[in-house]
Amino acid sequence: MCGIVGAVATRPVQEILLEGLRRLEYRGYDSAGVALQTETGIQRCRRNGKVQALSNALQEQPLAGTTGIAHTRWATHGAPCEANAHPHMSSDRLAVVHNGIIENFEELKADLQQHGYQFSSETDTEVIAHLLDRELQSVSSLHTAVANIIGRLEGAYALGVIEKADPSQLVTARKGSPLVIGVGIGENFIASDQLALLQVTDRFMFLEDGDVATLTAADITVTDISGKKVEREVTQFEHGVSAADKGEFKHYMLKETYEQPDVIKACLEGRISDDKLLEQCFGVKAADIFDQVKQVQIIACGTSFHAGLIAKYWIEDLVGIPCMVEVASEYRYRSVVIQEGTLFLTISQSGETADTLAALREVQSRVLASLVVCNVPGSSLVRESDLCLMTNAGPEIGVASTKAFTTQLVALMLTTIALGRRQGMSEEKEAEIICALKALPEQVQQALAMDPDIEKMAQPFAEKHHALFLGRGTLYPVAKEGALKLKEISYIHAESYPAGELKHGPLALVDKEMPVVAVAPQNDMLDKLKANLQEVRARGGELFVFAGSEKVQPEEGIYVLNMPACAEIMQPILYTIPLQLLSYHVAILKGTDVDQPRNLAKSVTVE
Ligand code: M6R
Repeated sequence: MCGIVGAVATRPVQEILLEGLRRLEYRGYDSAGVALQTETGIQRCRRNGKVQALSNALQEQPLAGTTGIAHTRWATHGAPCEANAHPHMSSDRLAVVHNGIIENFEELKADLQQHGYQFSSETDTEVIAHLLDRELQSVSSLHTAVANIIGRLEGAYALGVIEKADPSQLVTARKGSPLVIGVGIGENFIASDQLALLQVTDRFMFLEDGDVATLTAADITVTDISGKKVEREVTQFEHGVSAADKGEFKHYMLKETYEQPDVIKACLEGRISDDKLLEQCFGVKAADIFDQVKQVQIIACGTSFHAGLIAKYWIEDLVGIPCMVEVASEYRYRSVVIQEGTLFLTISQSGETADTLAALREVQSRVLASLVVCNVPGSSLVRESDLCLMTNAGPEIGVASTKAFTTQLVALMLTTIALGRRQGMSEEKEAEIICALKALPEQVQQALAMDPDIEKMAQPFAEKHHALFLGRGTLYPVAKEGALKLKEISYIHAESYPAGELKHGPLALVDKEMPVVAVAPQNDMLDKLKANLQEVRARGGELFVFAGSEKVQPEEGIYVLNMPACAEIMQPILYTIPLQLLSYHVAILKGTDVDQPRNLAKSVTVE
């Protein structure tokens, strides 16, 4: 999704803005641009394509200035092209960058056109530039103009605005789209996320919906939705500045996959004792809320939705209360029946996914309470939920989610224990789960050590156009996640099925051109799964099996990799690892862009 960077300093900011854009590349985009306050007024440079193209252009014709805004655009209104790239200007008076969607832009545009404004792009953003120009004919301060016009904007926005008349200031505002203020020493910044600014600061201020802020090099002034001056807390970035580097790894995705033993430990840290969950980790209000929970409604998208599907098995099995799971984009638009005592549990790596956030807002007043499992402190879902459990995975840059998923599962298991206690989960069971969680980092490490074998296994996939992933029980959502990973980064069409469904249709697809991946740990379903695998083999399908028992043996057309042993309850976490590595190696063989797959964005902040 779109990325914003802005700076107001006493030193030249062109390079700071470009570096910020490079750090936001992971979010996905198709054009980039900057606007700076120069000696001759606001100067702009935009390019279709990568930030590198913008950087090359600026090398030839640098822009000198100490205040500026920059943007990477992910096309929503109008094709990816230079004319639609941000910043957008109204005459040469002001420049705007925007992330989000202005839903009533057509109406606003028609009104502005009637007042003589001409549009040079197809974007919704340009209306903001002209609205501000018009407003500035009756008010003298840019801050007031921004505060006045945002009331007319329907939808979501994060904005950065500079005005020729005052080169020493940058005005920003947000509602529904992410934006942080980076607090420097004698300089201040804005960006879509903290990672974009780690080269200049590690102190951040998060704005509330409806806030407007004016930044100068020395000061930050914030007003809230009612126009009242407010103070917003400044917090320190927790993960250390190197957390956003690739280190020795070729791709962020690989680095993040290998970080899993450490981040699982980090997710457990301070939350468990020898054999107990320390429930205070959910916050002071949690105990009272958990006491009243009668069922759980989980809402999420993509990989986070798959984590929710696994949690459903855990909650219904170990807690014994109903748990429903649904993708946010469907749930938010239908009439839903909410039973008394519903805990509304959202799962989101970014905490900014527009559909998940909208679903929360839709039902917030009708549910017992909301809990978010999230990886980004200060994100919208964290701020708007009653309770939160952070996954503590550190920044995840690769678009394909890896460590965020496994830590979500760890956090969801802790949630399961908290709820289970209320429904009679025994101390022995709790101790058994805690013990299994503690053993997990070492087992994940062992699974990572299988990487060279998985790399070899990837070879035949590079030639194929389709693949099928099978699992049963909690391993079915793992198969879904494996298929999503493969399609996302290698562009191979991949489907997933609960193995018992094979004969109800998908078996018709199976032939030697359709590799079939199966996750087959030792559990009660193994014999049934083995029978399903025989159905595949009998139709000439080649099987690639991640197995946890000697009951699954390699033979012609059946390739088996033996997984480390783990507690049954941890199988969905452990068996995710080889599927992440498999898709990574297939993508490498296919030469695709692993960290920034085509058409995708890391943080989906628009519908
Ligand atoms: O930030 P979120 O967890 O809310 O994001 C949800 C999905 O967009 C995300 O999980 C997506 O499916 C990943 N790219 C999958 O790897």
